[in-house]
Amino acid sequence: MSLLGFHDVHALYGNARILNGVTFSIAASERVALVGRNGVGKTTIVNTLCGMTHVAQGDVEIRGKKIRNLRGYTAAQNGISIVLQGRGIIPNLTVEENLLLGAATRRPGPWSVARVQELFPILAERRNSPGLALSGGQQQMLAIGRALMANPDLLILDEPSEGLAPVVVDELAALLIRLGKDGLGILLIEQNVGLIHRVAERFYVLSKGAIAESGSLLNVSRDELQRHIAI
Ligand SMILES: Nc1ncnc2c1ncn2[C@@H]1O[C@H](COP(=O)(O)OP(=O)(O)O)[C@@H](O)[C@H]1O
Ligand SMILES: [Mg+2]
Repeated sequence: MSLLGFHDVHALYGNARILNGVTFSIAASERVALVGRNGVGKTTIVNTLCGMTHVAQGDVEIRGKKIRNLRGYTAAQNGISIVLQGRGIIPNLTVEENLLLGAATRRPGPWSVARVQELFPILAERRNSPGLALSGGQQQMLAIGRALMANPDLLILDEPSEGLAPVVVDELAALLIRLGKDGLGILLIEQNVGLIHRVAERFYVLSKGAIAESGSLLNVSRDELQRHIAI
């Protein structure tokens, strides 16, 4: 079954048309990369899922159901958690309060504050610190932990490696591989070819507001993938 599908989606900010017929879908437990140059509309796909654009044409489907009125909470309520570009940590809430925000939809499942803290012990150590007191890598763990608190079936990450040191990106890769093995679907929006290659099974390339290419990552070298990204 498809967890998330965009079907010929045209989306605008005001009068600015950014998505020009975007079509893709992600099935349960799939690990998919979405790549493309800066400014091509990757985050606009996320924003569209959150109801922050005007959809002039096409459909967004969650679990095979067309959703007409997308809102900020629609995805989370339906088992899709988003780690926003820039992480979206609430600066004046503590680490633990930020985590609890992720559970606002009360979707049942295995994740709890205790389980997230077990996965990321630093989030237990720093539970009472303000969110912004954490390092970039720790903030990314908090953002992922908060997303897991909604007990998702699909985790969308928008450029999670941005601003992270290479050794932290390695940790991120190991984490996403582990979550994927446990059956979590992953949509990885990324420019880091190494991370994409380690985590995803297949890819979509967004160019000029539409999917220009897609395929398996099995037989694609890093150089080839880099060329795809540069379309
Ligand atoms: N809120 C907004 N209002 C108007 N234009 C926007 C807004 N956000 C982004 N854009 C424009 O939409 C285009 C795609 O941006 P974005 O989806 O952020 O690209 P990407 O994530 O691929 O780097 C860019 O030209 C950007 O300037
Ligand atoms: Mg972006």
